[in-house]
Amino acid sequence: MTSTTANPRTRAVAELLKDVPLFAGLEMDDLSRLSLLLTEKHFPRDTVIVSATDPGDALYVVAEGEVKVSLWSDNGREIILSTLGPGSFFGEMSLVDGEPRSANVACLTDSLLLRLGRKEFIQALRAYPTIAINVMTEVCVRLRRADESIGNLALLDVYGRVARYLLERCDEEGDPVPEGNLLKKIPTQQHIASRIGTSRETVSRALSEFQRRGFIEQRGKGLLVREGLDPKAVSRSR
Ligand code: CMP
Repeated sequence: MTSTTANPRTRAVAELLKDVPLFAGLEMDDLSRLSLLLTEKHFPRDTVIVSATDPGDALYVVAEGEVKVSLWSDNGREIILSTLGPGSFFGEMSLVDGEPRSANVACLTDSLLLRLGRKEFIQALRAYPTIAINVMTEVCVRLRRADESIGNLALLDVYGRVARYLLERCDEEGDPVPEGNLLKKIPTQQHIASRIGTSRETVSRALSEFQRRGFIEQRGKGLLVREGLDPKAVSRSR
């Protein structure tokens, strides 16, 4: 790739790319060159960026904000496969295999995304093969998560899956406290339902039961998840 004169925009984008795992292993000069291939765009909350079955024309990196990857069932229920925050990327699958988009991606919050068109993506892969390894690594992470979800669907009933979801959130963003973990932001019942493939009403019943049995407790605007919450145990007990 040709060399760049580091103008302020190039520098700013290269700084953002520095912390993006997709570009791990690249030097600052490489990131500056790459930044010339990317376009930045702000999207308001709820904007649909990618629609399932559309042809794929670009990959996106989340610079700021959060997006959800989802599918819609025939009866209009949304199934959230994943949420992706700063540093994550999406849209690589259809660029790699040439098939239509595998899922919908929409902004959960106002977001700043960096778009890399198909031609530029191929150009970047040729110039920096390490990007291909980084893509494969992330695809493996996602496949492992998908395998785990399939296992959970088969092994846990819906109460167990709600418990598992809460524990995963604790691992990702919980603050350890003597009694367990504190989630500062309580996920909505609808969000949990869409993540584990059930209705909001069922999630509401599960949360009420966990509360009654002392496994969870509302603490101000947060949720305390106590040590004793065990997905298998709450599953078996149903
Ligand atoms: P693509 O199929 O081009 O468009 C939809 C994108 O959603 C897809 O590429 C991936 O980047 C992303 N995606 C699909 N399934 C998952 C998943 N299970 N977890 C995280 N991201 C996904």
